[in-house]
Amino acid sequence: MFTVKPLPSAETAHEALAIGLFEGAEAWSGLAGEYDSRLGGQLSRLRKEGDISAKRGRVAVVHPLLPTGAKRLYFVGLGKKEELTFERLREVFGRLFRTWKQAKRAEAAIVLDTFATETVDPNEAAHALAEAYYLATYEFPGYKQKKSEPDGALESLTVHTEADAAEIEASLFVGSVYGKATNSARTLVNTPGNLLTASDLADYAVKLADRYDFDYEILGKEEMERLGMGALLAVNQGSTQPPKLIVLKYQGKEQWEDVIALVGKGVTFDTGGYCLKPRDSMIDMKTDMAGAAAVLGAMEAIGELRPEQNVLAVIPATDNMISGQALKPDDVITSLSGKTIEVRNTDAEGRLILADAVTYAKQHGVSYIIDVATLTGGVIVALGTDKTGAMTNNEALFEQLLEASMETGEFIWRLPITEKDRERVRSSKIADLNNSPGREGHAIMGGAFIGEFAEDTPWVHLDIAGTAATKKDSDLGPAGATGVMVRTLAAFVERFE
Ligand code: BES
Ligand code: MN
Ligand code: ZN
Repeated sequence: MFTVKPLPSAETAHEALAIGLFEGAEAWSGLAGEYDSRLGGQLSRLRKEGDISAKRGRVAVVHPLLPTGAKRLYFVGLGKKEELTFERLREVFGRLFRTWKQAKRAEAAIVLDTFATETVDPNEAAHALAEAYYLATYEFPGYKQKKSEPDGALESLTVHTEADAAEIEASLFVGSVYGKATNSARTLVNTPGNLLTASDLADYAVKLADRYDFDYEILGKEEMERLGMGALLAVNQGSTQPPKLIVLKYQGKEQWEDVIALVGKGVTFDTGGYCLKPRDSMIDMKTDMAGAAAVLGAMEAIGELRPEQNVLAVIPATDNMISGQALKPDDVITSLSGKTIEVRNTDAEGRLILADAVTYAKQHGVSYIIDVATLTGGVIVALGTDKTGAMTNNEALFEQLLEASMETGEFIWRLPITEKDRERVRSSKIADLNNSPGREGHAIMGGAFIGEFAEDTPWVHLDIAGTAATKKDSDLGPAGATGVMVRTLAAFVERFE
């Protein structure tokens, strides 16, 4: 896909060549200046008249109509130099790739160095470029008999730079891995529930494990019964699809110690159970395994990048259905930890299956736990659809995750869990815990409930109910699944100390 080359001259042939422009930079620099003089100052004129603009996000195409050089020049506005961030650059690149996709450009080139600043160096720009390419051009194939128009995806991009080619290639690789892993998660989440059951999710995980040489284990219903995973089994009771506990093990250190558990909610469809969702709220509940998808996406990135870390991925997978066997409100169940739970609401199923997954991770000697789940509508009310809610029992661990999220541009915001919150999840007259102590602060109730199972193992809970899918197209992807937290989890694991 990417070829790294030194800077071109204004005579080098290109189908399309992209050049970045910063606001306020008076004269044309380098290559653009050469083109401007070859064109007798016409680029300057276009810029004066606003046809070419340095405003961030503007893309202008110019056909130089010269006997040599680029057939098309794409001027890409970057705004003020001192305001450019990695995140903004990624968006600008996304816009450029969408422009090329619409124009069905198969081949293009970019002068990478014109997009770099003191704060976003050419290596970071290369990472942003590759990541943006995969994110922006993603499409879910879908199931229409009539295939849509060939999508005009770019096939090769030449990256021109003065920087060290091997380093730029390495950055392009990391960006590509992040982008592709995010897209894998998007596809899992966009897949409807009838075509992605717990068993299908397990098959996918096994393929991933084979590809990256992870140890794995898939626990079926009998093993769960034998171990006493009463909470995961309870949620699955109403289903004709068997539950799976998916476990992947990546060992990047000599010793199996300091293990990070990544736990992802894998509800392949959430009807709500007997506390049935109203029909409008049930739409899109195929996305209720986005936590599982984030973990699998992160494991793909980890499999590619092979950091010196130990990771245990644990995914409890089932759908949440009704039948004569299904879990009912008022039922009391016994979780793997031994803690009993009064089920007040069968639609608060995520925390039940996560309870057993977190306990399983602890029983396998993990030192840190990150869980990711489309857990509550409450987090959408609290934070909207562009911020992931976070809760924790450990400041230091949370700080590291926050740092990773700031690098990847995936916003997370912390909600508190207080002693009073813990009292509320323990407020059952007949069991240890109550799975739904009321609407007030219910994103926090979800987190606090899972925290009862993490106990004193350092733990962060990420509620992605608002961020896992979007209704709007953006420069970095179409409406639908976002693949949120794949990159943050991967970046967190890579840098963890
Ligand atoms: N899967 C839902 C949460 C959800 C809502 C995800 C909207 C994505 C978009 C979860 O299982 C659920 O039903 N939560 C309930 C909890 C309540 C019953 C305590 C909710 O948020 O209403
Ligand atoms: Mn639910
Ligand atoms: Zn759910």
